[in-house]
Amino acid sequence: MKPLLNDKGVIARYREFLPFTDSTPVVSLSEGSTPLIHSPKLSEKTGAEVYLKYEGLNPTGSFKDRGMTVAISKAVEDGAHTVICASTGNTSAAAAAYATRADIQCVVILPAGKIAIGKLAQAYVYGAKVVAIRGNFDDALRIVREFGGVEGVGIVNSINPYRIEGQKTASFEIIEDLGDAPDIHILPVGNAGNITAYWKGYREFQNLGLSTRLPKMVGFQAAGSAPLFLGHPVENPDTIATAIRIGNPASWDGAKNAVSESGGCIDIVTDTEILDAQAWLAGNEGIFVEPASAASVAGLMKCFSNARCATCPFGAGIRPGAKVVLTVTGHGLKDTEAPVKHGGFQPLEADATLDSVRSVLDKS
Ligand code: F0G
Repeated sequence: MKPLLNDKGVIARYREFLPFTDSTPVVSLSEGSTPLIHSPKLSEKTGAEVYLKYEGLNPTGSFKDRGMTVAISKAVEDGAHTVICASTGNTSAAAAAYATRADIQCVVILPAGKIAIGKLAQAYVYGAKVVAIRGNFDDALRIVREFGGVEGVGIVNSINPYRIEGQKTASFEIIEDLGDAPDIHILPVGNAGNITAYWKGYREFQNLGLSTRLPKMVGFQAAGSAPLFLGHPVENPDTIATAIRIGNPASWDGAKNAVSESGGCIDIVTDTEILDAQAWLAGNEGIFVEPASAASVAGLMKCFSNARCATCPFGAGIRPGAKVVLTVTGHGLKDTEAPVKHGGFQPLEADATLDSVRSVLDKS
């Protein structure tokens, strides 16, 4: 039988734009090529032309797979026997899956009690060694950095530039889907690797003449974890959106550059706005994303409300018909506790007969 060709995935699709040689091994789970979904209701609500880049449809359920395929492939090329990362849950899920695929060990350092159960389950089932520290993500990343010099151990947080290289491919896909870059790109910001990566991707394609313009980059942080918005690290970050519960982002400068070079901004949304936006998106467009991802949607809604920030880069607002892309970074099934509690969902109860079911439905 002919071996299966590995013709899918970020490296297969964009190899020429990645730091790969013919001998670099490819560790892939066919990530990337996620759909850019037009959102009729967000478009109607805002007057803009709104699209959602649904990154929850990657193999481990978040955008982290794009960076991890590149980082783990390069780690294998460099002879690593183990990879290590700090995480709020999605990086660790991706690192564990891709390390297993590559037959190497994975160690993940997590803030105890602050990881959504679906993500924790992923780290375990993919076979990582899980260490929960009494501290937050920033403490976990400090410890990981201290592992830096250990022979055979590769760090796969986004301080590893190969992670950024992989993640920039999402911009390439958006340009290819739309035929050009959008006017505005909105995404949630935590450790700030992704906004850095998107900006790099947009600039690279423009430099190569593959797009004619650059979007304004707009990042949203949770109000209780907003170091970039405030302009200083936050010692005890807190938010229901645990994925972006980060007080001292590693790619601080990358985020600042993306925003200032593109003429965008960093703003905040509250936990209530995040949960309301999450419920709105699922209930109106049929797209279920995790709380951190809903920060993009909450942010877009804020951009069109009176609560728009005083320094809004769009002046009187985003112009009607502007092309706006929102990255929704992770799948809603990873973290179901908060939305279920927020929605106060209760099933209607009935006896096991058609009459009883019809009667409760009629009364509801
Ligand atoms: N959305 C989700 C679902 C995330 O998991 C993260 C980061 C972000 C947004 C923010 O991206 O850090 O590049 O600014 N999660 C990391 C993790 C920190 O460990 O999984 P960023």
